[in-house]
Amino acid sequence: MDTGTHTAADALADRLLTDTLGALELFSVFLGRELGLYEALAAGPCTPDGLARTAGIAPRYAREWLEQQAAAGLLETITSKDLRRYALPAAYRPVLLEPESPAHVAPLADLIAGIAGVLPRLPDAYRSGAGVPYRDYGPIFRRGQGGINRPMIAHELPGWLAAVPGLGARLTAPASPRIADVACGEGWSTVALARAFPGALLDAYDIDPDSVGVARSNAAAAGVASRVECHLADAAEKGALGGPYDLILIVEALHDLARPVPLLEAARDALGPGGVIVVVDERVADRFRAPAGEVERLMYGWSVTHCLPAALAEQPSAGLGTVLRAPAVVALAEAAGLGAEVLPLGNDFFRVYALSASAG
Ligand SMILES: C[S@@+](CC[C@H](N)C(=O)[O-])C[C@H]1O[C@@H](n2cnc3c(N)ncnc32)[C@H](O)[C@@H]1O
Repeated sequence: MDTGTHTAADALADRLLTDTLGALELFSVFLGRELGLYEALAAGPCTPDGLARTAGIAPRYAREWLEQQAAAGLLETITSKDLRRYALPAAYRPVLLEPESPAHVAPLADLIAGIAGVLPRLPDAYRSGAGVPYRDYGPIFRRGQGGINRPMIAHELPGWLAAVPGLGARLTAPASPRIADVACGEGWSTVALARAFPGALLDAYDIDPDSVGVARSNAAAAGVASRVECHLADAAEKGALGGPYDLILIVEALHDLARPVPLLEAARDALGPGGVIVVVDERVADRFRAPAGEVERLMYGWSVTHCLPAALAEQPSAGLGTVLRAPAVVALAEAAGLGAEVLPLGNDFFRVYALSASAG
């Protein structure tokens, strides 16, 4: 027997088993979120019957889910006499329940669940080269997309923008600065910018009607609707963007666009004098390397299951995929008549680019 091959096969088999465990436990987190089970547990320890009553689910499911969550280490058990109750540890609340906490990664469960819903359609798409529209990934995926970026958007993005050379002063200037949030999704970036720059007037644009609807309600709920207008628009269409803008922001969307160059051209045309386009996109390496690190693997994972199929749903499509490397961003900007600068900002997942008519 070839011991080396056997060991490699064993290692891969172990890895896939661990991955299966991760996928199943993420699905269970999705159920907890969707059914309000973590919220119910946040009010205090529950028995299965208690959880079933509070959350309006069937007692048999409540018992199985609680046992699974405790077995997985997401819940603690408190047993006295014959009664077992389940408790959500306080330390886990930010991860599962606090949408703006930097630890809030629970929306990943929604993203995975949303992808699972369309997964059976992907083999046909792979064979034909067709895509799967963003909208078809559904409200759960959309909520996951909005939710997973929300902590970064709330805590880091305003500081990144204030640090873009020449931009900070414009955004806080007394003459109401104008901002466009292009491909705004659920509009969390629009809300964060309206809060961070209280004199600013904002336009949010997205091609997905459901996203625009949610962005509008999020702006209203945040009390910033009087300074925010949400537009249903294909931002790659000439003249789709109003303006002139001091800032045009594109958060985690450039790689999703079927027509990135026309969109950047439209953005260029909508910039006011000295205005800047800030692109926040994935922090991937400048070149393909394999095997790759975890961030790169994560981005390829989204790409093969979501971003590339969504981008290919519109034809013709640049078909960029999630792994949009810095040299490719610079090339797209140049094709649109813009200069691009990679800024020393961002975090482990995101890189920040400044595009302007004068840069480069
Ligand atoms: C990955 S999501 C990012 C959403 C949001 N910026 C965020 O960070 O949560 C990509 C968004 O791009 C939007 N989009 C794709 N093509 C577009 C286009 N041509 N014009 C406007 N929005 C577009 C999609 O509808 C989707 O909301």
